[in-house]
Amino acid sequence: MTISSTCQNKPIVQAEDFLRLSDFTKKELFDLIEYGCMLKDEQEKGIAHRLLEGKTLAMIFEKPSTRTRVSFETGMFHLGGHALFLTKNDLQLGNGETISDTANTLSQYVDGIMVRTFEHENVTTLAENASIPIINGLSNDDHPCQVLADLMTIYEKKRSFSNVKLAFVGDGNNMAQSLIIGCAIMGIDCTITGPRGYEIATETFNKAQQLGQKSGAIISHTYDPVEAVQGADVIYTDVWTSMGWEDEAKNRVRHFKPYQVNEDLMKEAKEDCLFFHCLPAKRGEEVTADVIDGDQSVVFNQAANRLHAQKAILVALMGE
Ligand code: CP
Ligand code: NVA
Repeated sequence: MTISSTCQNKPIVQAEDFLRLSDFTKKELFDLIEYGCMLKDEQEKGIAHRLLEGKTLAMIFEKPSTRTRVSFETGMFHLGGHALFLTKNDLQLGNGETISDTANTLSQYVDGIMVRTFEHENVTTLAENASIPIINGLSNDDHPCQVLADLMTIYEKKRSFSNVKLAFVGDGNNMAQSLIIGCAIMGIDCTITGPRGYEIATETFNKAQQLGQKSGAIISHTYDPVEAVQGADVIYTDVWTSMGWEDEAKNRVRHFKPYQVNEDLMKEAKEDCLFFHCLPAKRGEEVTADVIDGDQSVVFNQAANRLHAQKAILVALMGE
């Protein structure tokens, strides 16, 4: 394996943390995506990037994870660093130690913290009290790492962000909130659809419309799933019941049923429309097996790009 020389120029971002996409400009997100593409390309050619030699990332998980945990841990290993997997119960955090004391203490040992938690405020409290970069690996409000990988996947498949229309079908959850902001920044038209009572926060929708005015993205909402997907290049969905809302699962199935992504709904979009899902998925609920396992589905490309997009984030925030 050779060591890369082309990857020495790390992507430059103003923010010290990766908490929400709205903290970044279009150029910064584009640079991260391009850097992720370059890392991916070089990795496929067997070129190594020891850009975080000797650095450690603490990963705090208050919710389960397959993709986020394995892609961050593998990413740190690829970059010559090390990752620590910590559940809340491995830390004194589970015993009542404050987030600020945890942030201050971890800052003495490690070079960055990735956190998956419930209230978004936990992420911001960590960031306010740590002297090292904080990365949001999913909160109740946001999943920015996933959306950076999704934008990278759109870029790979469509070679552009303009003239792309994305329809998000389902719950106005963390994925929907980060996606609409990511699309609005990059200039991707985005329509959200889902049942009444499960809309994204009005504040997020307004912010996306404001960002869309700058990028040219048309940001809209409808309760009609067929109207939402008309002319769509990408249909995106996510589980009807996110982690933390399990008590509502039965009730949600009833409300969300008309918003299932199935062959009939896919036919209402463009013929070459791609199907996206952040995973994990529930076949037979938000998506049918024929769609997620069919030719239009790119869900494992999205999963693969988590690794490369996050390596770009790690280098931007923790690299020399
Ligand atoms: N998409 C995603 O974040 O997956 P995990 O919950 O497996 O990390
Ligand atoms: N909305 C889902 C995303 C999982 C990656 C959840 O929060 O459970």
